[in-house]
Amino acid sequence: MHELVREFRKGPRAVDGIDLAVGTGEIYGFLGPNGAGKSTTVLMLTTLLPPTAGRASVGGFDITRDSAKVRASIGAALQEAALDPILTGREHLMLQATLQGLPSRRRNERTRELLERVGLTEAADRRVGGYSGGMKRRLDLALALVHQPRILFLDEPTTGLDPQSRAALWEEVERLARDEGMTVFLTTQYLEEADALADRIGIIDRGRIVAEGTPARLKAEIGSPSVEVTPAQKDDIGRLGELLAGFGDSKRGSNGSVTVQLPGGEAALAEIVRVLDSNDLHVETLQLHQPSLDDVFLAKTGRKLEGAGTE
Ligand SMILES: Nc1ncnc2c1ncn2[C@@H]1O[C@H](COP(=O)(O)OP(=O)(O)OP(=O)(O)O)[C@@H](O)[C@H]1O
Ligand SMILES: [Mg+2]
Repeated sequence: MHELVREFRKGPRAVDGIDLAVGTGEIYGFLGPNGAGKSTTVLMLTTLLPPTAGRASVGGFDITRDSAKVRASIGAALQEAALDPILTGREHLMLQATLQGLPSRRRNERTRELLERVGLTEAADRRVGGYSGGMKRRLDLALALVHQPRILFLDEPTTGLDPQSRAALWEEVERLARDEGMTVFLTTQYLEEADALADRIGIIDRGRIVAEGTPARLKAEIGSPSVEVTPAQKDDIGRLGELLAGFGDSKRGSNGSVTVQLPGGEAALAEIVRVLDSNDLHVETLQLHQPSLDDVFLAKTGRKLEGAGTE
């Protein structure tokens, strides 16, 4: 996409000139707080909302000029899922299969396959009105997959899910990218989610991309990891400080520990353990601190990501 903009009348510039590219088979994590412009971007890319400026293409088709072709190549599970409470999960899938023009003999089979894959086989013939939030998100994902799209958009697919359902969804998304070569554009406000799942991350704040890269690179930009060591014997602290000083900048904590920055990364950890061991210095705890994506967000915007809404 190029300089993509969406302005709402009497509203903010929800998306304020975004440039990004996502490769085939890549999982791209679009990370940002409430109101950052994630859903607005997804709505434009899925042709449901026209941009006010700029352009973008999805699957090689322009979102404005070739919107029908874009729609044929994508699947989308949007934030506001449009499920009908009086239909069952199976009925939703059968209906979607019909709308997508699947031959009638394939519809049953595809429906059964997808219900199984998202773990809704047992609940298949219950009305969606009685589904939990997690079950609805899973059905929504299944609906997006009916026509085997090459590109999948997921808008905050795990918001409100319990840890178990979240892990199951992560696994399915990873499988789709890995085994089926699907390109996935996923929005999230969860650091761990972007970190665990995405090959590449774009951090969006107030309609603008403030950082982009692999999770590892973004964190490495912020700084190197550090290790905090607490000696088993309090009076070893001086000796510990001397030993650790050889590995990088170190400082003593108020709680009787020493923290040392590791400019070369966590690879130094094994050597630290060896040195402490060969000097008979007994350690009570040894903790590695990695810079987090929250540190990245903080560095770029001056605010913490968690809880950084528009308000
Ligand atoms: N239809 C609309 N009319 C006016 N303003 C809108 C409209 N839709 C979104 N906005 C505004 O645009 C901004 C971006 O909203 P958007 O829904 O894209 O954020 P988001 O990143 O998806 O947030 P969330 O994590 O809460 O879903 C917000 O300030 C929002 O209030
Ligand atoms: Mg949203």
